[in-house]
Amino acid sequence: MQPCCGNSVCHVLMLVLCLSAAEDFDWTKNNHGSFYYGTFPTGFSWGAGGSAYQTEGAWDKDGKGLSIWDVFSHKKGKIQLNDTGDSSCESYYKIKDDISLMKEIRLNHYRFSISWPRIIPTGVKSDHVNGKGIQFYDELIDHLLENHITPIVTLYHWDLPQVLQEKYGGWQNISMVNHFNDFANLCFEKFGDRVKHWITFNNPWSMAVEGYETGEHAPGLKLRGTGAYRAAHHIIKAHAKVWHTYDTQWRAKQKGLVGISLSGDWGEPVDISNQKDIEAAERYVQFYLGWFATPIFHGDYPQVMKDFVGRKSVQQGLGTSRLPVFSSQEKSYIKGTCDFLGIGHFTTRYITQRNDPTGRSSNSYFTDRDLAELVDPRWPDPGSEWLYSVPWGFRRLLNFVKTQYGNPMIYVTENGVSEKMMCTELCDEWRIQYYKDYINEMLKAIRDGVNVKGYTAWSLLDKFEWDEGYSERFGLYYVDFRNKNKPRYPKASVQFYKRIISSNGFPNQREVENWRRKAVEMCSSSNQLLAAARRKSKEHAEMPKVWPVHDEV
Ligand code: NOJ
Repeated sequence: MQPCCGNSVCHVLMLVLCLSAAEDFDWTKNNHGSFYYGTFPTGFSWGAGGSAYQTEGAWDKDGKGLSIWDVFSHKKGKIQLNDTGDSSCESYYKIKDDISLMKEIRLNHYRFSISWPRIIPTGVKSDHVNGKGIQFYDELIDHLLENHITPIVTLYHWDLPQVLQEKYGGWQNISMVNHFNDFANLCFEKFGDRVKHWITFNNPWSMAVEGYETGEHAPGLKLRGTGAYRAAHHIIKAHAKVWHTYDTQWRAKQKGLVGISLSGDWGEPVDISNQKDIEAAERYVQFYLGWFATPIFHGDYPQVMKDFVGRKSVQQGLGTSRLPVFSSQEKSYIKGTCDFLGIGHFTTRYITQRNDPTGRSSNSYFTDRDLAELVDPRWPDPGSEWLYSVPWGFRRLLNFVKTQYGNPMIYVTENGVSEKMMCTELCDEWRIQYYKDYINEMLKAIRDGVNVKGYTAWSLLDKFEWDEGYSERFGLYYVDFRNKNKPRYPKASVQFYKRIISSNGFPNQREVENWRRKAVEMCSSSNQLLAAARRKSKEHAEMPKVWPVHDEV
């Protein structure tokens, strides 16, 4: 709650002022403040996550159908080192092992996704439901619950059944809405007695932009200027339909929640005293998070998207906007279809106004925004090229969500940092620093009044990182992909995260510093274990010559 609203003697006028002020995000103040020692609200849920294609492996086992990622990753030149998720962490065979890791750090929840083609091989429910796929998720859910770990389940983390891509063009086609709804309905029917937190889509921004605009992700289409908008339009409709299905058919009985997980980098104006920069930064965020959140919370696309894409479409001589339009029935059907908002957040950019230099002929999501993205060279960037550590951006984003969408219930569904594959060092001090600072900014945001209920470290394990293959490791646990048993080793950061969980926050400077020191001390023995295992496998088996190939030993 806003501090001024908490005062019971608030005059009515004051209250009105107070409420309207709460709707405006203040772009002009960015006080970073110092580290805050304190704890999270009681019942705050601590978790870690992963997704089906990134971790399960068993890509062609037990009746599973092909997904667009199976097909895409098998094409030469699409993935770093031509790697695939064929076996990845083999999590399909390691439910119990992985749950022991979660227990070890006392996770409250685990976020995973269901592979649609594992339970409906062609994507079309009336064709065939794969009992073995259902059985796998049944067991996973049961084991989690037996160990008092709440499952948070994503229905779609990018692995569309290939048949739906081939037959209909995937998310370019409106028919996905009904097929996805049938799949979701089946999941509610089979698992909804035990699963109470459902996420319809993970990061639809990536699905739309990287899948249908840049083609870096499956299905690899480059439909510039239109493909992403069309895919997003259908995804939003599919999300709304599934929410309504749950609401009308299952909610009364199962009493769960249905949300969506949106990703959003934060966009900070280069110069907070320059109105043009502020507008550009706001555009950046609206074209990113707002693209999906605004229809879901308010019924329609952000006005700025409608204006910019509409104007450019006219300039390009098109009769209608490249941004599709919702009918008024659709708007009211979509509005309010969110019981909680999942936020996936990793990084921040500085933003400044820049008119598209290519002018009228240019036609793309990126140029539609008329802005330039910048980074501060002093920001740490330990892993992925795009991932700079800017903790204060997280607090800004969370506050933005609060002001724009009526302070919804939030679960942070992804936050974390990678390291380069070449780094076999388990003493990941930079990841400790990242988690420490980002989690602290989330705590500050909660103190600002943002309604965050849980946090999901991304990710539990090193795993297949999409087009980057295995070259970027996000895990709290290191996975030795060269060993066919895919053993897991704790990194220092997992010890540190465990302490945050057990203290439900940051008690005081001395203790937090102690955690860091102990975590780093402990990891040197894990380092030795890993090195010894490597030596042993070198002695006993033929090793691939070039690290990092993850072929079986
Ligand atoms: C967001 C995606 O949802 C997730 O699958 C991926 O691992 C992270 N970004 C890091 O790139």
